[in-house]
Amino acid sequence: MKQSELSTLVQPFHVMELVKHANALEAQGKPVIHLSIGEPDFPMPEPVQQALVQAISTNKTRYTAALGLPELRQAVSDYYRSAFQVQVPANQIVITSGASAALMYACLALVNPGNEVLLADPGYPCNKTFIQMTGGTPAFVQTAEEENFQPSWADLSKHWTEKTAGVLLASPNNPTGTQLTATAMKEITAGVATRGGFIIVDEIYQSLCYDHPAQSVLQVTGAPSEQMPLLVINSFSKYFGMTGLRLGWMVVPENLLPAIERFAQNLSICPNTPAQWAALACFQAETLAICEERRKLFKARRDFMVHALPGAGIELHSTPDSAFYIYAKSPYSSEDYCKDLLEKAWVCAVPGKDFSQYRGNEMMRFSYANSMENLQIAIERINQFNQTGSPKAV
Ligand SMILES: Cc1ncc(COP(=O)(O)O)c(C=O)c1O
Repeated sequence: MKQSELSTLVQPFHVMELVKHANALEAQGKPVIHLSIGEPDFPMPEPVQQALVQAISTNKTRYTAALGLPELRQAVSDYYRSAFQVQVPANQIVITSGASAALMYACLALVNPGNEVLLADPGYPCNKTFIQMTGGTPAFVQTAEEENFQPSWADLSKHWTEKTAGVLLASPNNPTGTQLTATAMKEITAGVATRGGFIIVDEIYQSLCYDHPAQSVLQVTGAPSEQMPLLVINSFSKYFGMTGLRLGWMVVPENLLPAIERFAQNLSICPNTPAQWAALACFQAETLAICEERRKLFKARRDFMVHALPGAGIELHSTPDSAFYIYAKSPYSSEDYCKDLLEKAWVCAVPGKDFSQYRGNEMMRFSYANSMENLQIAIERINQFNQTGSPKAV
């Protein structure tokens, strides 16, 4: 059987291979600590759990409209108004199967074969795949550690060619846990609009930020329109701890809605129905209070890790203020170091190669979506391993 060209182009997610190896070690009885996966360690908030059970037991399990439940689109619109003081009409909000489907629809609606899309390097590995699936080419823009690994308009405009269709960025970003400043967002959105391109901003980690109030590019631009060709991606996965329910949303200019609707109808029919009913509970005061408590716990973990890693022999080259990641310098080739750290110290962190074309082998990512107790043990083991090359007795 002959496979498609696309199937050979799509890269594996290396993180998953390492995690498989970690799981195999765990199955042999090794007490592995996972600092690898980008997933909150908390369960889904109780009110959302109850709403999900209620949705299923009242047979809310049939297809919904392709663009999502009107009630949920309205709830997201209200959330933008109450949490970010921005007016985004509900009809410009599309509910999707996670940020993943939103990114896919956005690329399908905007990228032609032969187009280039500018991506910040380092960045989320799947972005290049979404672009490749449209026949487009990802063009990686190397970012500087002094700029917290986020690009400026000056960086992006240098890479803009006649093939460039637009820009896809994430703020806060994965793997760096750093954000674009409001000034950078303003300059980038204005610059891209002048060039007649599009800008997609992935804000999936938006409310997981620790040093400043959460922000949205929409506060800078207002609702997207034909004049402001912006698409904003978000998700219930991270802040609301609903990774497995596969639910997200996007904010789009009105003129793109018919195309997005056709892709949604054809590719997934609709997002998960019980999950959409459950997600309505995310915006209740009780759920938001639970998420806020969790955000504070993430902040305490971030503070601990940022101070403890350098003491354990891992240099940080940026200031992570959001998400639950730290992108740090690996003591030696990150692929070898992460393998050694896993096999000898039973700490699973991931090499940078999934995230960066340029410095992937120099850098690594730690996820602090794990308990403080486990983070403390992990730091002791990393310290011991870096000093002696041998595991700490456990
Ligand atoms: C930056 C970024 N965007 C999108 C996604 C996909 O998220 P979802 O679970 O909402 O599909 C992830 C998942 O880790 C991510 O880190």
